[in-house]
Amino acid sequence: MLTQQESRVQVKDYGTFKDSLRAPVHRWFQYPAGYSYKFIEAKAKEYRLAASSWVLDPFVGCGTTCVTLKQLGINSIGIEAHPFVYWVAKTKLYWEFDLSNLHADIERFWRSVLEGINHGQVSFADTKSLPPLVHKCFSQDNLSKLVFLRDTIERFASDEHTKDLLRLALTATLRLASRAGAGWPYIAPSRYHEKHEQEAFSTFYRLVGQMYQDLLYITARAVPQDTQCLLIQGDARDHHPTIPPSSIDLVITSPPYLNNYDYADRTRLEMYFFGWASSWRDITQNVRARLITAATTQITGNNAESGTSATTRYKTHSTTGLC
Ligand SMILES: C[S@@+](CC[C@H](N)C(=O)[O-])C[C@H]1O[C@@H](n2cnc3c(N)ncnc32)[C@H](O)[C@@H]1O
Repeated sequence: MLTQQESRVQVKDYGTFKDSLRAPVHRWFQYPAGYSYKFIEAKAKEYRLAASSWVLDPFVGCGTTCVTLKQLGINSIGIEAHPFVYWVAKTKLYWEFDLSNLHADIERFWRSVLEGINHGQVSFADTKSLPPLVHKCFSQDNLSKLVFLRDTIERFASDEHTKDLLRLALTATLRLASRAGAGWPYIAPSRYHEKHEQEAFSTFYRLVGQMYQDLLYITARAVPQDTQCLLIQGDARDHHPTIPPSSIDLVITSPPYLNNYDYADRTRLEMYFFGWASSWRDITQNVRARLITAATTQITGNNAESGTSATTRYKTHSTTGLC
């Protein structure tokens, strides 16, 4: 039983990702735009959701709503327009691994990493093709290690779910192994106060181990097998025929609003590193233009039917040294 003060503290944090930073699965990717999984647990209780209920989150982000409901055995549908964020949510929602096979695969992966290191492959990692922004965020040593890990994952002979898990661990490694400090990503890398970067190999190793432990933890808690979770990559404003009329019992969401949070801008390091985009123009045209306007800087991007506005935005960024 919580005291009144404890309850107030919990509610205060519902709108932040603070609780989720420490929670199994939720912590696989730190999405500052995300909310607390405890908020979803509280709403499930308040609205007496049952195993037959269906919840819709039209702006599901990195999947907090669906991950929490899946753990509670409640069906859910999530929609997300940002392709990278959608991929994060999808990866966090796949728990149907044979865990002993996964363990063997991860061991096999480490062996190929060690082999590569012993054969001096790290220094041959091709970092040159990455946009300048990525170079500004890392020492050359850490960047070579990260690119070597990325390429080893791509070459690794395994199923896509296992590779996605490894890719997500590497995604989470990026910010920790970066020397980009306070103020990032709102101010240019040339102006932020640099922080100490964590060594890439040991950070990645730790995060893969943590993900495996989280999977052991959640699957040991008897998640109901028939709980359904449908993720849709698309625009919440569109008609989605996969959601039948009158099929939703409750909508829980945190929509984009004008708080100057630019979801596309926030993920550019990850998108550049993994090759989802190679320039600001790519991000503007392929991601920003699909999202509801949440930042004043986005207005030109959203209006960009041709490349003209995107180019204007690109130039603005270049002058602050971001691209
Ligand atoms: C406040 S965040 C939601 C975060 C989520 N509650 C979580 O915990 O991860 C809003 C999300 O809406 C997404 N979004 C923006 N425009 C959208 C659209 N037209 N359709 C669907 N999703 C959109 C953004 O990419 C962002 O991830």
